[in-house]
Amino acid sequence: MNHKATLKDIAKACGVSVTAVSLVLNNRPTRMSAEKRELIAKTAKQLHYVPNQAARSLATNQSMLLALLIPDIENMFFASLSKALEDISNASGYSLLIANSDDSWKAEHRLLRQFASRGVDGLFLIPSRESVKDSSKLRQDVEGLDFPVVITDRLVSDNWCDAVGTDNFIGGKLAAQRLIAEGHRRIACVSGDTRTGNDNRRMAGFHAGLEEAGLQLEPELNVVGNYRFDGGYHAADRILDANATAVFCGNDLMALGFIRRLEERGLSCPKDCSVIGYDNISERFGFNHALSTVDQNITAVAKACHDLISTHLGPRKANADSKPWIEAPKQRLIKPKLVDRSTVSSVPAL
Ligand code: RIB
Repeated sequence: MNHKATLKDIAKACGVSVTAVSLVLNNRPTRMSAEKRELIAKTAKQLHYVPNQAARSLATNQSMLLALLIPDIENMFFASLSKALEDISNASGYSLLIANSDDSWKAEHRLLRQFASRGVDGLFLIPSRESVKDSSKLRQDVEGLDFPVVITDRLVSDNWCDAVGTDNFIGGKLAAQRLIAEGHRRIACVSGDTRTGNDNRRMAGFHAGLEEAGLQLEPELNVVGNYRFDGGYHAADRILDANATAVFCGNDLMALGFIRRLEERGLSCPKDCSVIGYDNISERFGFNHALSTVDQNITAVAKACHDLISTHLGPRKANADSKPWIEAPKQRLIKPKLVDRSTVSSVPAL
């Protein structure tokens, strides 16, 4: 079996102490000459030396691993948020383990235990739909963990944990105001997944935007979606048959599905119907429609998550039983912004 090179092998090959090798490979200050430092680095490479993280974790009581639990790995919004959290975690020396609960509490429960068994140092958590609806079981799980947790994107009621979200009420209102500014009055809506909490705030903001302009959302123009492509696609016939001139979809995937069906009917967007989405993923993933949308500012969300969790990171004191992330939880709400592209224009000429 191949012998895995150790610090001792490198020290022997370079004629220095193991401590000296450790200082050089961990970029710690040392009085050694540049030649000696270079020889140690070169020898480590030649021997294919890989640091033993498990041994290092035992010594420092830190794994330098963070975890992220997302609810729907097929939704590109979560891919973008994962990337933003991975970038900021890597920049501070942490690796990020990403897992998908597939919106199931059972999977969420299992994965939280797996993260604990792998000794992660902290967790970013987007709750499953089931846990947003009733977070008591998730709360029990989180209270049993010995590392900091930040809930993000889908916030839970009574804010029992550190959390970072975006202001979905403002986001929904921005969408309504954009369509009204173009003269639309017969405006439809395809809501997201009402069980995620986000959607309720987003739709409340949208309704508030309409009401401010003296408009009401008529029942035949209000369709419940599901945050997936097919949710927008299957909502289109009812909305287009009811002669809406504009529609707000609760996320970009549904907006793309709506436009697909609109074009299948020989219509075009925005000429025949304006469409505004939410999440700002169309550019990033190169879809053929540059959607007008509401951007959730995920870089700012990721930074706020990392800032919150960082206050609790560092070598864990043995049996430290204080958990400030649940004993004195903090919440940050990031402001979304409107991104205007090519799918919204003025009311079609009759
Ligand atoms: O696209 C999925 C939606 O659900 C996003 O808007 C995000 O907020 C998530 O919770």
